[in-house]
Amino acid sequence: MRRHMQVRHCVIPAAGLGTRFLPATKALPKELLPVLDRPVLQWGVEEAVAAGVDTMVVVTSRGKELLAAHFDAAPELERTLEARGKLDSLEAVRRATRLASFAYVYQPEPLGLGDAVRCAAAVVGDRPFGCLLPDDLSWGSKPVLAQLVDAHRELATPILALTRVPRERISRFGCAMVAESRGRLHRVTAVVEKPAPEDAPSDLAIMGRYVLTPAVMEALVAIGPGAGGEIQLTDGIGAVIGSTAVWGLEFEGELLDVGTLEGWLQTLVRAAAEHPGYGPALRRAMAGVSG
Ligand code: UTP
Repeated sequence: MRRHMQVRHCVIPAAGLGTRFLPATKALPKELLPVLDRPVLQWGVEEAVAAGVDTMVVVTSRGKELLAAHFDAAPELERTLEARGKLDSLEAVRRATRLASFAYVYQPEPLGLGDAVRCAAAVVGDRPFGCLLPDDLSWGSKPVLAQLVDAHRELATPILALTRVPRERISRFGCAMVAESRGRLHRVTAVVEKPAPEDAPSDLAIMGRYVLTPAVMEALVAIGPGAGGEIQLTDGIGAVIGSTAVWGLEFEGELLDVGTLEGWLQTLVRAAAEHPGYGPALRRAMAGVSG
């Protein structure tokens, strides 16, 4: 087995403008929209904790101070809940604070995902790190980031989350060109950001979960704007292919979209339907919907 360092940090880019949810996200960060009883950002943090990560590095921006407030103590609220004997609510409020350590870094301008990730360079240091985009929820028995961390433990290389998509949808994603495969693991030989279906080197889309290495962070710090004038995370990953191996994992389970209004609605309905507490109420409500 190759030498690997434990993945201790998870970078969570959350500095975007959330324009697809306007006006709902004019004041409220889209990462705080709820799915059942907790905001989507907390779902992401819980997934990272389940992967063994102890420090969340949340990339934030001006006007999104509520992100930190959600994971901070709330002494007045906690005192009131305690005095009223609302111990379940008290426990739920405190749990968010105790999940992990939190560091917040600012991205001055939304220059792209690669730029958001490189804002975390000083906190992450010279170690491999997880990266999780909160606008997908991991759904399935083994959280996706934990699957990637397991693969990194074995291979000690960057690991990308891959899923097969119909060719006509590949232009919405980064796409991986792959060579040798070992079961669900594929060695990545190139990454192409949002290719036209006819130019796509495969049907393997790169999804928003990664284990990245110091070499990728160094490459990100060095690169300039790519497709769409943004600093692309895929360009940073592409820059290290050749000097280091990069692997992709066709993960098990699903990633459910909460980054668009339609995706968020579908995820909310699915999560409620599968929940023993909320399922019956949802089915009663749906029975009253015509069409
Ligand atoms: P998205 O492109 O889905 O987020 O990026 P967005 O830009 O907020 O969304 P729309 O298109 O305007 O509706 C995926 C994740 O990366 C973060 C976002 O906050 C989101 O969690 N991100 C994106 C950054 O942190 N910085 C950026 O420059 C871009």
